[in-house]
Amino acid sequence: MNLIFLGPPGAGKGTQAKRLIARFGLPQLSTGDILRKAVADGTALGKKAKALMDAGKLVPDEIVNGIVDEALASPLAQKGFLLDGFPRTVPQAEALDQMLGRRGRKIDHVISIEVPTEVLVDRLAGRQTCPQCQTSYGKDSPPANPGHCDRDGEKLIVRPDDQPERVRQRMHEYETKTALLTGYYKARGVVREIDGVGSVDEVEKRIVGAFA
Ligand code: AP5
Repeated sequence: MNLIFLGPPGAGKGTQAKRLIARFGLPQLSTGDILRKAVADGTALGKKAKALMDAGKLVPDEIVNGIVDEALASPLAQKGFLLDGFPRTVPQAEALDQMLGRRGRKIDHVISIEVPTEVLVDRLAGRQTCPQCQTSYGKDSPPANPGHCDRDGEKLIVRPDDQPERVRQRMHEYETKTALLTGYYKARGVVREIDGVGSVDEVEKRIVGAFA
């Protein structure tokens, strides 16, 4: 099964992706996670991406397209994948069509997680993230040991792009560049719109129900 998670910043894409990959045994291909790791490792890619990410702006299409092409070639992605945070622009969606077409594959479902802006802003203001495994914690899902990741014990951080003015910029990027993709995929009849408000368990149940 080849899946895309669409949704604005803070919609719960990463949270739900981590649950779905455990349930379906698919790899999560998160361009945000890959880029944050490159920044943390100080690679050439990370150096190019850091300022843009910190400012809440999108990284150029050709950079992320290359990351995804490489990820799709990995043995882990051959039985299916869950794309989280990609595509984010129409040119990225067109590039993805070409990458999949070359491999005789296609997107089966696009899960569009819908959450009102005021809820998103509130969630991102309360988010703490593990810099190691990228697990997010929020007011409704705090870690068992405050300030530390349940999975690996790492000290949690506040992402630089979760500062209020950067969240506004990310919302702007979403509204002007990414929201168009719902229509792009609706034309193919593969979009499943999911109400993303409610507990993490409730949203997961709706997503899983959309495949039934
Ligand atoms: P990326 O990491 O993809 O960020 P994003 O899309 O802004 O999404 P977030 O990670 O902020 O939110 P999420 O939807 O995963 O929500 P989460 O599950 O954490 O990208 C970051 C940057 O990288 C971009 O700005 C850009 O610079 C660059 N980039 C990445 N991909 C790119 C691309 N394709 N092209 C160009 N540039 C790219 O949940 C949020 C919070 O809410 C958490 O605290 C969580 O615990 C909580 N929460 C989740 N679900 C619930 C719930 N049901 N109820 C209550 N709280 C909840």
